[in-house]
Amino acid sequence: MTTTITPLIAGNWKMNGSRASLEELQQLAGLLTTGEAPKAMVVICPPATILHAVASQGSTSGILAGGQDCHASASGAYTGDISAGMLADAGAQFVIVGHSERRAAHGETDQIVRAKAEAAIGAGLKPIICVGETGAERDSGKAEAVVAALLAGSVPDAAELHEVIVAYEPVWAIGTGRTPTNDEIAQMHNRIRAILVERFGDKGASTRILYGGSMKPQNAREILNIENVNGGLVGGASLLARDFYTIISAV
Ligand code: 13P
Repeated sequence: MTTTITPLIAGNWKMNGSRASLEELQQLAGLLTTGEAPKAMVVICPPATILHAVASQGSTSGILAGGQDCHASASGAYTGDISAGMLADAGAQFVIVGHSERRAAHGETDQIVRAKAEAAIGAGLKPIICVGETGAERDSGKAEAVVAALLAGSVPDAAELHEVIVAYEPVWAIGTGRTPTNDEIAQMHNRIRAILVERFGDKGASTRILYGGSMKPQNAREILNIENVNGGLVGGASLLARDFYTIISAV
């Protein structure tokens, strides 16, 4: 891990969680405030229905809040959508954009993801921009080329002046219990770093690159120790306070 970058561990609760989950958050807050101070920034991205509650409750223990998606427009006739400004108003400081589940299930293209990231920046949020190859793309040796193209299309030019976060999430590793080897993660994160540096200079050198996909208490330490892995984007294992805390403590 690059020592000058403060690592960030973000929990993506996806479509899980209700007001009852605030109990779990309370437990996490208790663990974070009683033990040794965490060496990572801690972010929870809950469903929008409890975002405000998570942001309010988390603030006393240093837990930051994020949205899971935003619309590219600031307001308007978009039934069911939520703008970046609304997320910020609810207390979010981050927003995930371009998660593979949204790219696949909602037809989000690079162009849409880039517009969402720009909207997030415009609303004062830090976008967590997700990229990753499918299993078939990896098997055919195209993983790096696919990720490079996703980065080129999804990361806005505004990243040169504003803080964005990149999350490498191999689609085939999400929710499957399978992860790339440490060498494969290192190779991809080094490649992403080189691309960011080439495009954004110093800003690219200090951009956080998170790993996501079946990160668990059992594998977090070794993954987080890999060069250019500046934290994690955690799905399933972020739902239980004890597991998520173990991952945070692995930094
Ligand atoms: P899992 O940790 O459940 O594999 O999910 C990863 C993910 O999609 C985080 O955004």
